[in-house]
Amino acid sequence: MFANYPRPSMHYGNTASLQPSNWSSMVFYEPTDVEISTKPFETNHGKAVKYISPNLEELKFICSYFNITAKNEFCKMRQAASLAEKIVNYVDNVFVTLGSDGLIVSRKGAAKESFPMKNNEQIIQVRHYPANTVENIVNVSGAGDNLASGLIAGILCGLSEEISISIGMEAAKTALKSESAVSQKIFDKYHFCWNTPAQYVSVINKS
Ligand SMILES: Nc1ncnc2c1ncn2[C@@H]1O[C@H](COP(=O)(O)OP(=O)(O)O)[C@@H](O)[C@H]1O
Ligand SMILES: [Mg+2]
Repeated sequence: MFANYPRPSMHYGNTASLQPSNWSSMVFYEPTDVEISTKPFETNHGKAVKYISPNLEELKFICSYFNITAKNEFCKMRQAASLAEKIVNYVDNVFVTLGSDGLIVSRKGAAKESFPMKNNEQIIQVRHYPANTVENIVNVSGAGDNLASGLIAGILCGLSEEISISIGMEAAKTALKSESAVSQKIFDKYHFCWNTPAQYVSVINKS
């Protein structure tokens, strides 16, 4: 779900993709901007949001909505990891986008596991996926939306986190190299990213 839906639409579920019956299924929310990042949580359907992809400023805003505070971290990656670990108690799967620094993922599950978790895993794991260097960037707008679309494709296909992120990051890359926010160049399942796990560093794993 895109943050630009008006609040009443989110509340009553009166857009085609948000029929009330669909709220029982899982919503992937891309917050788009700080001031509108808490919109679905202000409705009765906030619990339907199982995936979010905020940037760090949006994550801070969402965390303050839930009264989540974290100790002041000097490093933005550490700060993102610390907040992402806590917000998992409200949203199961958190993808914090960090521009050229890549992505932080926080969820109760391992990188090789698909979404949603089928077992009753309780341990929150946080991983950092550094972004590959992208040469000749022409436009940074739309990278987050394209990342989200690639992630959703992987999730819907039942793929693991590390493959879903590989697809998402490749989709983000096509946006960075495109003049428009939505890339003209798309790729299919034969693209290598569908078989190549994204590389990550484990940040929090309390098992
Ligand atoms: N300069 C960049 N170099 C490499 N990857 C990037 C760059 N900017 C963005 N990305 C990729 O795109 C993703 C989303 O970009 P970001 O700017 O964080 O999101 P948003 O556009 O929603 O603010 C990042 O997590 C990263 O994988
Ligand atoms: Mg974004």
